[in-house]
Amino acid sequence: MRDDTMTDSLKAKAQAAFKDLARDPGVPKPDPILVVDNVVRRFGGLTAVDVNHVEIQRGSITALIGPNGAGKTTFFNQLTGFDTADSGTWRFNERAMNGVPAHKVARYGMVRTFQLTKALSRLTVLENMRLGAQKQRGESFWRALVPGFWRGQEEEITERAEELLVRFKLDAKRDDFAGSLSGGQRKLLEMARALMVQPELVMLDEPMAGVNPALTQSLLGHVKDLREQGMTVLFVEHDMDMVRDISDWVIVMAQGAVIAEGPPSTIMSDERVIDAYLGAHHDAPLSEGELEAQLHEAEAELEAEIEEETQK
Ligand SMILES: Nc1ncnc2c1ncn2[C@@H]1O[C@H](COP(=O)(O)OP(=O)(O)O)[C@@H](O)[C@H]1O
Ligand SMILES: [Mg+2]
Repeated sequence: MRDDTMTDSLKAKAQAAFKDLARDPGVPKPDPILVVDNVVRRFGGLTAVDVNHVEIQRGSITALIGPNGAGKTTFFNQLTGFDTADSGTWRFNERAMNGVPAHKVARYGMVRTFQLTKALSRLTVLENMRLGAQKQRGESFWRALVPGFWRGQEEEITERAEELLVRFKLDAKRDDFAGSLSGGQRKLLEMARALMVQPELVMLDEPMAGVNPALTQSLLGHVKDLREQGMTVLFVEHDMDMVRDISDWVIVMAQGAVIAEGPPSTIMSDERVIDAYLGAHHDAPLSEGELEAQLHEAEAELEAEIEEETQK
């Protein structure tokens, strides 16, 4: 456990790094963990992502905001190897990462969670956690679930999973199917699972979306905790109160590009940001039914993925 002085000093250190930075898109950071250049992703005639340059400061919590359809999720997909960019380079800890597949990206220490949670509903909470470790190692999906497969590693992995489940208050649910969890608990599980690889950079795509307000504070606490433990966090979020509460720096995307950067206290008064939000068409928040439908869709996708794995 860190004491409060330590916690304060880490937060202060994170914020001090941004103190005298210009508010320009792509502004260089004192100690970047991730440096991105010229990443472009097109879908037919639509340019979903076109980021010239952006740097993420090590040890900080950076929020990535922007209107719906700005390209935030697509950008995450490029960086983490879940989709292939048309062009561009990015370096994580000085290592070129373009073209590296997702499980290797995670093994190098850069993990992400999904806007729609990818918890496997027909596996238990503990199995989902163990799979988190396995996915990163590139082991076959089913072998990872075979008792005894892990041998030496098994105990270590189970131990780490159990520690994380306690930390995320999911230990009482360890043997329940992930499908029986609430939306918020799934988000917690997804975050816990991402930590199985002991990452350095954690990328969270709308970690609070669809979460019951009773769990929001707990999720926010966990995000802050990641920084206290020395990790770097990059997260996408719509709710500006939350962005102000937890982030040290904010990067704004619109129409695929980074259009502004700045501190959370003033970013929303930046003219470029106001224009971007006014110019964008606003989607109404998802209804319960729509959220449920999206979850089912995500599950169907995963089931197809499992199906594919079993055929190998
Ligand atoms: N697989 C895809 N095929 C075609 N268009 C896509 C695909 N994924 C995203 N898009 C489009 O790219 C744009 C950016 O989407 P997205 O990255 O999801 O935005 P955000 O996460 O900022 O809301 C949107 O116009 C979206 O419709
Ligand atoms: Mg998105």
